[in-house]
Amino acid sequence: MRTIEIFDTTLRDGEQSPGVNLSLNEKVEIALQLEKLGVTRIEAGFAAASPGDQRSVAEVAKKIKQATVVSLARSVESDMDKAYEALRHAESACMHVFLATSPIHRQHKLRMSKEQVVERAVAAVKYAKKYLTEVEFSAEDAARTEIDFLAEVVEAAIKAGATIINIPDTVGYMTPVQYGNIFRELQARVPGIEKVKLSCHCHDDLGMATANSLAAIEAGVTQVEGTINGIGERAGNTALEEVALALETRKDYYQVGTNINLKEIARTSQLVSRLTGMIVPGNKAIVGANAYAHESGIHQDGVLKEASTYEIIRPESVGFKSNLLVLGKHSGRHAFKDKLTELGYHLDQEEIDKAFVAFKELCDKKKEISDEDILALVDAKIIGVQETYQLDSVQLSYGNQSVPTASVRLLRADGETCEEAACGNGSVDSIYKAIDRATGEEVTLVDYKIVSVTHGKDALGEVFVRLQQGDVTVQGRGVSTDVLEASAIAYVRAINKIIERRGEPLAVSGKV
Ligand code: KIV
Ligand code: ZN
Repeated sequence: MRTIEIFDTTLRDGEQSPGVNLSLNEKVEIALQLEKLGVTRIEAGFAAASPGDQRSVAEVAKKIKQATVVSLARSVESDMDKAYEALRHAESACMHVFLATSPIHRQHKLRMSKEQVVERAVAAVKYAKKYLTEVEFSAEDAARTEIDFLAEVVEAAIKAGATIINIPDTVGYMTPVQYGNIFRELQARVPGIEKVKLSCHCHDDLGMATANSLAAIEAGVTQVEGTINGIGERAGNTALEEVALALETRKDYYQVGTNINLKEIARTSQLVSRLTGMIVPGNKAIVGANAYAHESGIHQDGVLKEASTYEIIRPESVGFKSNLLVLGKHSGRHAFKDKLTELGYHLDQEEIDKAFVAFKELCDKKKEISDEDILALVDAKIIGVQETYQLDSVQLSYGNQSVPTASVRLLRADGETCEEAACGNGSVDSIYKAIDRATGEEVTLVDYKIVSVTHGKDALGEVFVRLQQGDVTVQGRGVSTDVLEASAIAYVRAINKIIERRGEPLAVSGKV
């Protein structure tokens, strides 16, 4: 049976989702989980986009041992130099060079002739080959490229040494039959194509990314690119969990396998959602909260009699668990450490100790601690960004007939304490105005969401905010038994991210 390799680009194309801006620690944590999930390649970023991107690709490259680590690069030497610099410590590395080939891109973006495009693609692949054996060439907007010219570029890239040829549907324009036919045509026309890996890369503008990727598999590709939860530029990329489950559930039809460890899907999806602040819709296939919920009486009756009446996937098979309550205030350090391992964390001793202190503090506020509590707590306290400011205290005066007033005290990394008070249109607004004053930062709140991560009256509330300053947008999240405190923590964390980002001048746009 053919094995389909999974190329995950959550950390590159996924991070191009508007407003998503992951810290280095967050990227490493996601990469380690992707490795557990069993993906073949992890695109850790676009090293030339900024010094921060280069650092995070390098850090992921050092930490990942099983998967191949990839960096994207434009077809220019300086990008490839930076990509190699970031990848050179990887156990296994791949350089991903791209160049647009469609008439629209050639004419309006590149202002290059067909001959110049071929020449540049060949030069880029040859240059990348000086650094690494594995080189992927992507013909950006391939799906809208004249098939004769696409075949010419692909043939030239293979002759120059590309080992993977990727045919992106960059703008999500294809239908499944059309997209599959591009691969059939290329396989019929391009000499030597059987020696390289053929890859598909779809965007979801018309909601067909998964269908198009599956059509490409039927047409012979051996690599599928995509992201967890389908996040990404505009409407997003192919959701890898959907492809993996379609191939598994309909093995009878597709007759191919993957190396994906299906039981890690739920955990990976939840981690990506928490760290990016991109909440998974309840009805999202495979990983949505309602994906296995049966509401109608007829359906419930059927499922109770025999699950397969209305269920084609068992939730446990993708790692959803029903038993969530385990730890409590009598649990010791050992049990806590085991739980962290079971939940998939990769923490050193110092981080475990810090998490344990936070866990004990939570036990004082909450009787029963669920897995979700621990996940939220560790993500917020350990996998954070550099903490220029920390929330020390927040106080609020509120009455439905009076103007809410908040006072906040923040601790600054240099040891200073910043205290301020402000009135606002509501409790959250007054807290945020007080924080603005205390930090002296001018930011715009572009999004605010509260999610209940656990159940019951003493449930943990998780707040996601997105802040904008100039052209930088960041997300922050906070978790607490009190939603106002969670709101303040999320806001302070987002401000820390803005400060961290400001330290890094962008060499080229981080977005491709
Ligand atoms: O969608 C696209 O064309 C891309 C390429 C850079 C591979 O993401
Ligand atoms: Zn893309």
